Amino acid sequence: MKLFQTADYDSMSRKAADFIAAQIILKPDCVLGLATGSTPIGTYQNLIDLYISDHLDFSRVKTVNLDEYRGLSGDDVNSYHYYMKENLFQFININPDNTYIPDGTDPEPEEMCARYDRIISRLGGIDLQILGIGRNGHIGFNEPGDVFHVNTHCVDLARRTIRDNRRFFPCEADVPRQAYTMGMGAIMNAKKILLLASGKEKAPALHKAFCQPVSPRVPASILQLHPDVTVIADFKACEELAPFLKN
Ligand code: PGA
Repeated sequence: MKLFQTADYDSMSRKAADFIAAQIILKPDCVLGLATGSTPIGTYQNLIDLYISDHLDFSRVKTVNLDEYRGLSGDDVNSYHYYMKENLFQFININPDNTYIPDGTDPEPEEMCARYDRIISRLGGIDLQILGIGRNGHIGFNEPGDVFHVNTHCVDLARRTIRDNRRFFPCEADVPRQAYTMGMGAIMNAKKILLLASGKEKAPALHKAFCQPVSPRVPASILQLHPDVTVIADFKACEELAPFLKN
């Protein structure tokens, strides 16, 4: 794992956007695996700036998102379809036909999940997967459990995740209890992984993910087995990453 420490959230976001821009410049028709949540918002703002000021070209880029809440349609302000439109897609020259997000309202969820994995395979897999990390160590909505799930699947959200995501909803009762998430197969098959983290509340999760044995109890720990992981995190998030702090 390569670690880049940054002073704060803004510099994390700038560095992450530069990293992603480099990927797009080197392979203009790349497949990006995209994350949602508060962590990548600044990264997406910087990518928009690069599109406007440097003409970073998204016209041939394809994207696959990690997850979506079960039951929320794309028009719902809390859906990740809405998030992606509001925070990135509407401001850049990406072709909407090249963007994929699990459908939270599909009446045949199992078929939808299988189809999502087929889409990722048909695209040739993911060139660069962007990840946040939950305070409980989840990536996407792969929650702590007894096993690592390989394929896109429906998950019961952990109590902690529901509590953490309550801030986006009017009240806790409104937070969906289930979501669809890409599984570890597509994530681990990505050629490169970029994990972003900011703030001291992420420090214990980063420690468990990279300084303790691999375990499905800490889903992000599986990344120890991936050959090309870059972590860009601010000083506060890195506070418990002692073995990596020399670089
Ligand atoms: P956050 O979520 O970016 O809102 O902290 C990260 C995650 O749950 O993966």
